[in-house]
Amino acid sequence: MQPKDFIESNKERLLEELFELLRIPSISADPAYNNDVARCAEAIAGHMNELGLDQVEIFPTAGHPIVYGECLVDPSLPTVLVYGHYDVQPADPIELWDADPFEPVIKTTDTHPEGAIFARGACDDKGQMFMHFKAFEIMKAQGNIPCNVKFMIEGEEEVGSMNLEPFIKEHKEKLACDTILISDTGMIANDTPSITTGLRGLSYVEVEVTGPNRDLHSGLYGGAVANPLNILSQMIASLHNEAGEITVEGFYDGVEIVSDEERALMAKAPFSQAAFNDSIKISAEQGEKGYTTPERTSIRPTLDVNGIWGGYIGEGAKTVIPSKAYAKISMRLVPGQLPGDITEKFVKHFKATAPASVSLEVTPHHGGLPYVTHTTNPAYQAASKAYETTFGKPALPVRSGGSIPIVALFEQVLGAKSILMGFGLDSDAIHSPNEHFGVFNYLKGIETIPYFYENYAKGH
Ligand code: BES
Ligand code: MN
Ligand code: MN
Repeated sequence: MQPKDFIESNKERLLEELFELLRIPSISADPAYNNDVARCAEAIAGHMNELGLDQVEIFPTAGHPIVYGECLVDPSLPTVLVYGHYDVQPADPIELWDADPFEPVIKTTDTHPEGAIFARGACDDKGQMFMHFKAFEIMKAQGNIPCNVKFMIEGEEEVGSMNLEPFIKEHKEKLACDTILISDTGMIANDTPSITTGLRGLSYVEVEVTGPNRDLHSGLYGGAVANPLNILSQMIASLHNEAGEITVEGFYDGVEIVSDEERALMAKAPFSQAAFNDSIKISAEQGEKGYTTPERTSIRPTLDVNGIWGGYIGEGAKTVIPSKAYAKISMRLVPGQLPGDITEKFVKHFKATAPASVSLEVTPHHGGLPYVTHTTNPAYQAASKAYETTFGKPALPVRSGGSIPIVALFEQVLGAKSILMGFGLDSDAIHSPNEHFGVFNYLKGIETIPYFYENYAKGH
């Protein structure tokens, strides 16, 4: 039976099984949901058992558990390690959802006229991760599992995968593989499949500016005392120059210069600036001078304030000079930049720009290395051919702006490259209210993945 036929006759069940997972609010960032995260790990292990995987185990960590299962058919065949995450982002701001984020519903959208599954984690990453379980089910039903398959599904991706690094170091043998397969990224459009060939790295810091030792009356003290919120705003504003470049000394040192040839190739991928602007209702784009929007979000490093707070934000007006001001700042990195080094440069720069009237504390959060893979990689080619079979055209290679920090670590520790077969769309609102995943995309992913294994086994 072809994957397509299997999907056609099992469609309702394939959707309902995913819905069951989406109903579990496995929010890794909020300890109030720890039981739900644990419950989700158990549900994943249950699916592994149902698939008949061996060595199914829930590994506890200092944080949330990692779920593992494998099917080793023949040592002479190549081994594929499937990675995904069952944890999700918090649903806030919850009032902006059209329906309960943990009660999935199917609704149509402009990009998904055939319907999309609305729920937190639908696209990132439960829906995409679960495609691999169902693709395995198809291969099993076909009686043809062309590769050894190992599944490792974690519960802390959205909070930086802190406990996954020691886990993979400790279980190097168990996780040994020829390639890693991940669906946790996107593609250009439903009629334009693409494979992600790059991910940006990440450096994330929290800053705290302190002025006076207590909140002050802004009439009695205003004008004579540094206001930490004013100061922080100025410091943040000075992090970019007029050309949209980042002013942190040495920030661009070593940044890999992408050749004109590769840039020309990138420019061939379909992209409409007008459609981009319209999709997020902005009247004009903004970014680093000399680069296009797709370049700004893939081959160039960036710096963004993710949150800024302090002072009085309640009802009405309160006249106050706050004692403290805070911000969370992320920097997306490209090949040639190291997260530790960038964090250090940021701290040095930020300290140097702080006036003597305030004190400053910078706390580094998680970071991650950027990642690139090449289209000559046999696993990439196996994936590309799989898309050709199911979409009727080969996938375009595209570098993504997002980060999956563990991917570079996989390469360092396990010595294997990752293939990023993502089926989400940028418009799927991951991390946002009303996150969704196209029914077409979910089913097409399930259909495409078995061909990857077939092609990879042949080309290996
Ligand atoms: N799946 C995303 C990353 C992603 C999405 C990459 C779309 C490319 C295209 C992942 O779950 C994620 O959200 N990563 C975080 C970093 C992490 C350390 C919290 C990110 O990119 O902000
Ligand atoms: Mn993800
Ligand atoms: Mn995410």
